[in-house]
Amino acid sequence: MSNTTPHTFTRDAAGNLDQTLRPHSWEEYVGQAKTKENLRILLTAARERGHAAEHILLYGPPGLGKTTLAHLIAKTLGTNMRSTSGPAIERVGDLAAILTNLSPGDVLFIDEIHRLSKSIEEVLYPAMESGVLDIIIGKGPSARTVQLELPPFTLVSATTRISLLSAPLRSRFSGGTFRLEFYSNEEIAQILKRSASLLEVQVSDELLLDIAKRCRATPRTANYLLKRCRDLAQLEQSDLNEDVINRTFELLEIDPLGLNAPDRGVLRTIIETFNGGPVGLNTIAAATGEEQSTIADVIEPYLIRQGLLERTPKGRVASAAAYTHMQNI
Ligand SMILES: Nc1ncnc2c1ncn2[C@@H]1O[C@H](COP(=O)(O)OP(=O)(O)OP(=O)(O)O)[C@@H](O)[C@H]1O
Ligand SMILES: [Mg+2]
Repeated sequence: MSNTTPHTFTRDAAGNLDQTLRPHSWEEYVGQAKTKENLRILLTAARERGHAAEHILLYGPPGLGKTTLAHLIAKTLGTNMRSTSGPAIERVGDLAAILTNLSPGDVLFIDEIHRLSKSIEEVLYPAMESGVLDIIIGKGPSARTVQLELPPFTLVSATTRISLLSAPLRSRFSGGTFRLEFYSNEEIAQILKRSASLLEVQVSDELLLDIAKRCRATPRTANYLLKRCRDLAQLEQSDLNEDVINRTFELLEIDPLGLNAPDRGVLRTIIETFNGGPVGLNTIAAATGEEQSTIADVIEPYLIRQGLLERTPKGRVASAAAYTHMQNI
């Protein structure tokens, strides 16, 4: 790039990748057939009755489409969506302000709901169940509880760690709890085809399938890889061909199974340092320098799905396939 050329930076199609490439209709939202069908029935019926839909919990590893689904739910209900997240709601007053400002039928989206504090959860229970908010005014002997009636609303929540949700909270998602699944290579290729056209990239279906095989079955990662391939092609003024794709994978250290360096780091630690396991999550975290939550939410689900890792009561164990894979790369 010549440094004499004045440069204007525009928010191009890839500027905010997640939002630009986010599907805006159920047709564009690929896969997750069962969840889509159940939601369609739930939402259509609620809309026809003219009621707010019941509360919905979405869970699964990062990048599988939970936030996207929340947007589609609000769109289908024809209502507004207010977004917040577990860690953003620090005080009971924060939640009270959000709830009392909803319009009837609105969707309230709480991301990372597993990070909501206990005291806030307790305010949320009656709000979810009976549509009321109990607030305590004053302190000591003169304190009294005031009950506020809330507008009918639908709570849609997302989490990567359903096991951290308390049983009472989980049971209040009366509309259903939906687990998002990893995607097949064909589904990812279909997602990539749409992304390629939005990003104005020319690439064959066959090469899209090659990218799909390396994205850990995750749409967000697939879109990220496509964008990185596009960057390299652009710098080299070349087409997005097989060579560019393979070199991008090499640069990003993504192996043929789609594992990245942290994934392999976890496997290597279990195999080489702990003789294949069993070894506890906290020990793996200490040995690899990764956060426990990153290992449990991001790294492990895909390794387990690939049959490379097993979660046993005694700890994590590397499978025979993991040994073979680590020897071959
Ligand atoms: N079913 C799908 N069809 C097409 N694109 C998808 C689908 N699911 C996800 N994507 C793409 O992946 C991106 C990431 O999805 P999203 O933000 O909904 O994931 P998430 O599950 O909320 O992740 P996190 O747990 O990190 O918040 C979206 O912006 C979209 O481009
Ligand atoms: Mg999200």
